[in-house]
Amino acid sequence: MTDVLTVHGGTPLKGDIVVRGAKNLVSKAMVATLLGESASRLRAVPEIADVRIVSSLLELHGVQVGAGDEHDELTFDPTNVEKAHVADIDAHAGSSRIPILLCGPLLHRLGEAFIPDLGGCRIGDRPIDYHLEVLRQFGATVEKRPEGLRLTAAQRLHGTKLTLPYPSVGSTEQVLLTAVRAKGLTELRNAAIEPEILDLIAVLQKMGAIISVDIDRVIRIEGVDTLQGFTHRAMPDRIEAASWACAALATHGEIYVQGARQPDMMTFLNVFRKIGGAFEVDDDGIRFSRGGEGQRSVVLETDVHPGFMTDWQQPLVVALTQTSGLSIVHETVYENRLGFTKALVDMGAHIQLFRECLGGLPCRFGQRNFLHSAVVSGPTTLRGADIEVPDLRGGFSYLIAALAAQGTSTVRGVDLIYRGYEKFLDKLDGVGARYERG
Ligand code: EPU
Repeated sequence: MTDVLTVHGGTPLKGDIVVRGAKNLVSKAMVATLLGESASRLRAVPEIADVRIVSSLLELHGVQVGAGDEHDELTFDPTNVEKAHVADIDAHAGSSRIPILLCGPLLHRLGEAFIPDLGGCRIGDRPIDYHLEVLRQFGATVEKRPEGLRLTAAQRLHGTKLTLPYPSVGSTEQVLLTAVRAKGLTELRNAAIEPEILDLIAVLQKMGAIISVDIDRVIRIEGVDTLQGFTHRAMPDRIEAASWACAALATHGEIYVQGARQPDMMTFLNVFRKIGGAFEVDDDGIRFSRGGEGQRSVVLETDVHPGFMTDWQQPLVVALTQTSGLSIVHETVYENRLGFTKALVDMGAHIQLFRECLGGLPCRFGQRNFLHSAVVSGPTTLRGADIEVPDLRGGFSYLIAALAAQGTSTVRGVDLIYRGYEKFLDKLDGVGARYERG
């Protein structure tokens, strides 16, 4: 399959699409299957590259992954979990950050784990220092080797009291996946409480874990000796849903996103309305379109839940180039998630980046030389261009920009988008996008 799309812009996208399970829950629930004594069933699994990567990582460790009874169901049998060969795991290095989350479960099952160099999107430094500190506090030993990190646990990991320096999603998941089978109590302060994390907690509870989410970002876990498999339907992908919403707004179209859920998207919906978007919620999904015109500006900061998700920021910025007003976007989760705007400026967008924390409270990146605030002025006519996909969300956002632009664009590196957007070409066909492969 070719990695390049020739996109003809200027046609409003209209039609229905379906979103299935959230990438950022499904991949973690798949890791949780390692903790069970019996097989698990996960439903609403999307056909995305990240699911294939995590499936092969699990298979390397002896988990049998198979098709379930429903068309989008996978089964995972972890009865023969075993050590994987370093070279095999390494073959997956660079393609995902999920291997770090295998550590806790593998330490429980095998007493050791190996982590290759980690990949993921190029949206900042993306260190793993919190993860390693968490694992050390549970009693693991971390050894740096030329080919990666080797973790060992001479005896059963033990519960601990932890406070994260920042409510990191992955580090909170690390704590959950490790604490559920550690000996004794774990108390986590400053935890992330994203809906995907609460859905992971639901999965773990089905397996037999005892976890309470208390006020003020405190999560308490009572370790248990054994866990069983689970049957679970993954929550829908609210990042994909918002991406299609922004595509509808930017192209003056109307897209019904079946599976989108209002409670998971309230913060997005408020901003969407403020910038001139319209939406109608029904029992099965949300219809997104453009509302009345007029000056619509917004000042927003990306933040941990319940704030505005960083993953919504990139498609939203493209939508802002097509709506009236002067808006400020302050990215406070990743230091380098506005770099994708350069190509939009080359296409004709009016976007200026600043090192200062604009709009609200100072964040971790202020005074540190990161261009992490943007002023976007719209509407501007975008011109077709030759653009290269920079990262997953930036890549889908470039597709939106190309579809909103006048003329033809060449979008290179589109394969990356398959990491998190299921069958996006079929969905583009379904909403009337005009493009060719190659
Ligand atoms: N951080 C550290 N040290 C660590 C871990 C995180 O400094 O050890 C910092 C990060 O550099 C970042 C902040 O903490 O500045 C937040 O990172 P977090 O750990 O929350 O991110 P993550 O778990 O690596 C997940 C999603 C991302 C999403 C973020 C924030 C997955 C697989 N990835 O990443 O999703 O942006 O949470 O919500 O769940 C995407 O789907 O495109 C994507 C990038």
